[in-house]
Amino acid sequence: MRRFVILGHKVPASGEFTLNDLPGSGGRLDVLCRAIGASLFVSHGIRRDVEAVLLIQGTVQLRIVGDRVRRLNPDERSTAALLQQALRQAGPEEVEASPGIFVSQGSLTGALDRLYQFGANPVLLHEDGDPFDPAAMPADPAFILSDHVDFTDDELETMDELPRVSLGPTTLHTSQCITIVHYLLDRDAEDSNQDLVLCHKVWSEPKAQLICGLLLDFGIPANLVRQSPPSVYPVTVDGLGEVRIMVRPRDLERARVIVGDYFEDPVSE
Ligand SMILES: C[S@@+](CC[C@H](N)C(=O)[O-])C[C@H]1O[C@@H](n2cnc3c(N)ncnc32)[C@H](O)[C@@H]1O
Repeated sequence: MRRFVILGHKVPASGEFTLNDLPGSGGRLDVLCRAIGASLFVSHGIRRDVEAVLLIQGTVQLRIVGDRVRRLNPDERSTAALLQQALRQAGPEEVEASPGIFVSQGSLTGALDRLYQFGANPVLLHEDGDPFDPAAMPADPAFILSDHVDFTDDELETMDELPRVSLGPTTLHTSQCITIVHYLLDRDAEDSNQDLVLCHKVWSEPKAQLICGLLLDFGIPANLVRQSPPSVYPVTVDGLGEVRIMVRPRDLERARVIVGDYFEDPVSE
């Protein structure tokens, strides 16, 4: 499961605000509603394998669970109404305030403990982190983001040990970060479900390695598949076997142009 945990710093934890003024009396609840939308919605549907968690002022936790939630619509006002109704029911025990929206008193350490209990792996999204590498993301990641203000020093101290990853030096909106993370992880999952395709074949291991390195310089990962030489050779003679350079389907066209520009016309089957 993919999770997004958003720390809301100004939303009144009591739920006392007017739905007509989410940015003002709602303490930028509009930012959190957009983050929920980015976490859970696709066009005409909902991501069932996603949970959005809001931690409001470090005291109340709201969980919106993709495979249970009902009555959640893309507009911010109706989402805010569901959250307000939930905030008003916050107590020591978690309750399901409306289908798929759970609320309880909470804390950042409590939220992290719960994530670990469920086998999730928290990752801090921060402008100053290591570059986001989808392939290096843990299984069941839980991305932690702030709202319209920075994480506090206390929050950063509590999350000091967590991996910190960045989507680049530009500070983005919370909901934009979530959309980008979904895109990168979805694309990575799609890649790993697709078979690699033949880009070129050569009959020299060093040349194959050279092409592989060149493609990587252009951001195109390639695998080498070695075929045994024909049986007339009594032993495998290094360099005489066919080496197939395989790439992802979405890289094929560009990879073939690069091979053509730097080496020779790529061979097709
Ligand atoms: C609008 S930003 C926070 C406010 C911002 N730090 C400020 O006060 O100028 C919302 C959150 O999105 C995440 N975020 C924004 N840009 C990011 C980036 N380039 N890489 C990773 N996370 C980012 C961080 O979690 C950040 O706290």
